[in-house]
Amino acid sequence: MTGIPHHPAGEPDPLRALDLERLRCRTSMKWRTYPADVLPLWVAEMDVPLAEAVVRAVTDALALGDTGYPTGTAYAEALAAFAADRWDWDGIAIERTAIVPDVMLGVVEMLRLVTGPGDPVIVDPPVYPPFFQFIGHMDRKVVEVPLGPGLRLDPAALEETFRAATAGSGRAAYLLCSPHNPTGTVHTAGELATVAALAERYGVRVVADEIHAPLVTPGVPFVPYLSVPGAERGLSLMSASKGWNLAGLKAAVALAGPGAATDLARLPEEVGHGPSHIGVIAHTAALRAGTGWLDALLAGLAANRNLLARLLAEHLPAIRLHPAEATYLAWLDCRALDLGDDPAQVFLERGRVAVNSGLPFGTGGAGHVRLNLATSPEILTDGVRRMAAALPPTGTGS
Ligand SMILES: Cc1ncc(COP(=O)(O)O)c(C=O)c1O
Repeated sequence: MTGIPHHPAGEPDPLRALDLERLRCRTSMKWRTYPADVLPLWVAEMDVPLAEAVVRAVTDALALGDTGYPTGTAYAEALAAFAADRWDWDGIAIERTAIVPDVMLGVVEMLRLVTGPGDPVIVDPPVYPPFFQFIGHMDRKVVEVPLGPGLRLDPAALEETFRAATAGSGRAAYLLCSPHNPTGTVHTAGELATVAALAERYGVRVVADEIHAPLVTPGVPFVPYLSVPGAERGLSLMSASKGWNLAGLKAAVALAGPGAATDLARLPEEVGHGPSHIGVIAHTAALRAGTGWLDALLAGLAANRNLLARLLAEHLPAIRLHPAEATYLAWLDCRALDLGDDPAQVFLERGRVAVNSGLPFGTGGAGHVRLNLATSPEILTDGVRRMAAALPPTGTGS
């Protein structure tokens, strides 16, 4: 496509580079789960070409046949440099990092280090559905502490649950999603320090999933969990997977605070065999040389978020769009449309547009949908029109 707007940094907006015909050639989950007449605005894949630095690094590796097993600390070093530059955080100690197969398997391994079978793992719904699936699959017990007012963390409820979960000196962990999926909430330094203080008080171990950290709106400070006072015994997972659309190139980094170093040291060596070597190469290249591309993406996402607000105001004024400061996801409260607990089903069947049902996100998900706005303005516009067209004639919600 020509005429792609350029970000001041000089990179074109990657969200405007691919048209629907090209995207429909993709074979990934987003594009192949539903029939071809359905517009997919669901699973967290972005409709973008890759950053040139990533393509070059992967192409060079393939040309060289460099497709063996991963080793070394290049990924963690690139992440440390990115964190220093982007978040002004120089707290990543390479000796307290490990490469893991991906963020969710990294979460599972971190939870295995600090809890045992049957132990509670606390989450804040509505939250990324695989949290429930993976925790259940590893024989831990999910304990929900729903988000509080404004869909922010609820410290009083967390304290109550931390206290109950550790009564009788039981072990418990708290799986924090930071930034939060699906709401796009960026936790403040104060909120995170409160979490750390409560976790220390009750002996709850914190595992922070920070996969969306590169996707924070410019001007909004992202605070890494391990950077807050009191978080020394915390563990974190970071990755270039969401920020640069590399979910198919598996890799992530696990990080330990100084007080969790001995826990991370118990990570079985074979876990580090799980990431793809090409994945590690791709993620490292993204963090090292993909920041111009990321800036252009973030500018495009901000424009799309504004566009979505305008489109909803025009076509679906009864829907409440939760204001987000991160991710490329939009959490839509559709309860005023009277479409029942699962409006996504109605949008799919009658509008031929796929958004995520809120139900698998846990408590607070009924009547909500999650929409993926990492696409072109044209596709986003078509998506909202399809949602509006799904409404019964009398239920415009206006
Ligand atoms: C909060 C969160 N964690 C983890 C993942 C998945 O990461 P990975 O593919 O590295 O397991 C996602 C994907 O969307 C996510 O939103």
